Amino acid sequence: MGSGVAGLSAAIEASKHCSVLVVTKDKIDENNTVYAQGGIAVVLSAGDTIVKHIKDTLDAGQGLCDKAAVKTVVSEGPKRVHELIEWGAAFDKEDDRLIFTQEGGHSFPRIIRAQGDSTGREVEHALIRLVKEYKNITVLEHTFATDLITRDGICHGAIVWHAKKGTTLIWAKRTILATGGCGQVYRETTNPDVATGDGLAMAYRAGAVLQDMEFVQFHPTTLYIAGAVRFLITETVRGEGGILRNKRGERFMPRYHQQAELAPRDVVSQSILKEMQKTDHTNVYIDVRHIPRERLYTRFPKIKEICDSFGIDIAKDLIPVRPSAHYMIGGIKTDQFSRTTVRQLYACGEAACTGMHGANRLGSNSLLEGLVTGYTAGKDACESIQKSVRKLVPYTIRESMGLSKISWLDLNDIRNSLKSLMWRDAGIERDERHLLEAEEMIEMWGSYVMDKEFSNPTGWELQNMILVSSLIVSSALKRKESRGVHHRTDYPETDNIRWKKHITWVL
Ligand code: FAD
Ligand code: SIN
Repeated sequence: MGSGVAGLSAAIEASKHCSVLVVTKDKIDENNTVYAQGGIAVVLSAGDTIVKHIKDTLDAGQGLCDKAAVKTVVSEGPKRVHELIEWGAAFDKEDDRLIFTQEGGHSFPRIIRAQGDSTGREVEHALIRLVKEYKNITVLEHTFATDLITRDGICHGAIVWHAKKGTTLIWAKRTILATGGCGQVYRETTNPDVATGDGLAMAYRAGAVLQDMEFVQFHPTTLYIAGAVRFLITETVRGEGGILRNKRGERFMPRYHQQAELAPRDVVSQSILKEMQKTDHTNVYIDVRHIPRERLYTRFPKIKEICDSFGIDIAKDLIPVRPSAHYMIGGIKTDQFSRTTVRQLYACGEAACTGMHGANRLGSNSLLEGLVTGYTAGKDACESIQKSVRKLVPYTIRESMGLSKISWLDLNDIRNSLKSLMWRDAGIERDERHLLEAEEMIEMWGSYVMDKEFSNPTGWELQNMILVSSLIVSSALKRKESRGVHHRTDYPETDNIRWKKHITWVL
């Protein structure tokens, strides 16, 4: 399930010996992957080493990374990226050599990119081309997975819905969740509409363990223009020398961190928030006016295009930005084979909690994680089918949840209220009072939304968003310390004695 970098990588690998069905709720290329800008972090340049990349990733994760998972992703990464290049992905080069950029927290320039700031589009379309060539991969677009089919702790497929074809049971020998993140539970987010955490909710309902749900990464710089979609201004703009200024035009990052604009994302996001509060302003600005115009326009063509459409010339004007929800670090707990705790069910990419990121994700590490864990999921799923003697035996599903079909709800109103609540009470800065308020509101909304039987994705997504939000809030309440992206103003210190551990949830 899912057609981003993780889902398509899994499908391609599994299709070597198995027949694969990819179910995706929108068109094939509508997902977080396609919007990725900055690039892929990978050890391919002379002087860089696997050891350095592992160390940077572990440092960012603040004691909560799974070292084995980090080692696997980082050391398998170069192979997967070479493969992607063989499949036609064209990364930016100078004199026939890949160009490497630096991002916050990376000790070496190891980020490769495509068409300046359209890396995700290039990766996604290289994978789609291959998927379309493979005869034993079928893709069902605009098909919404509502739930997994499980019996006795074993997953047998999923229930899916299509506007014209209705509801179908898909029986599968192995099921892979590559359904991405849940940025949409926040009012301000870089994520497209599809990122509503459906896979997390489905896995939880099926009895899988979810982990680290309090760790939501906020990206410091999203274009902030009233009424405009929250378009990302990639961190590599700061990597290329972009300076953050407050409303008064003052550069502020050197006051907060020695790495200034290239400090870790959580530090930059929190500093921006403080400057917004101090100057009583809705946003701060990125200043790239000192970078030669030609360089700017060729390096960031998409950002130029989008800013132009709002009358902002990036070579002459300041770019208004503020932080927004970007990446779900937590998710469905998986092992080194991308297996979840439910038999025959796998998870990969952003939907999974592989242990790669710990309490904070380094920029550009997630496309790499999607490539590697997607591959691993596809490989293990397919190999285990070949080894297994168990047949796929569909059975009659009789259970009825006995839910009410009568609903007088304004679903969009509840969705918007939930997103505002999460932004206000479970965002970049958290404390007990606001988290308790959020918990109470979510419980109340849940009391009249979760007992309804809906007949289309608007209702199902809302139910999933409520469930995922409640897990984020409960985890954030539980973790009484600040670590990585989880910042509690009432517990500002990191508490290694009590909290150097994971928070997990299982139904
Ligand atoms: P996605 O690409 O989000 O795919 C999820 C898929 O699941 C979608 O196809 C969706 O339709 C489908 N789906 C969801 N629910 C259902 C359902 N109920 N039924 C059926 N299908 C469903 N990372 C980097 O490493 N480098 C970057 O430069 C970078 N830039 C980013 C910029 C932006 C604006 C954003 C939003 C993210 C960025 N990231 C970046 C993060 C990275 O893009 C994602 O973490 C990664 O692409 C996730 O891939 P995925 O395959 O796990 O999920
Ligand atoms: C960015 O380009 O700033 C996003 C990179 C990422 O989220 O990994």
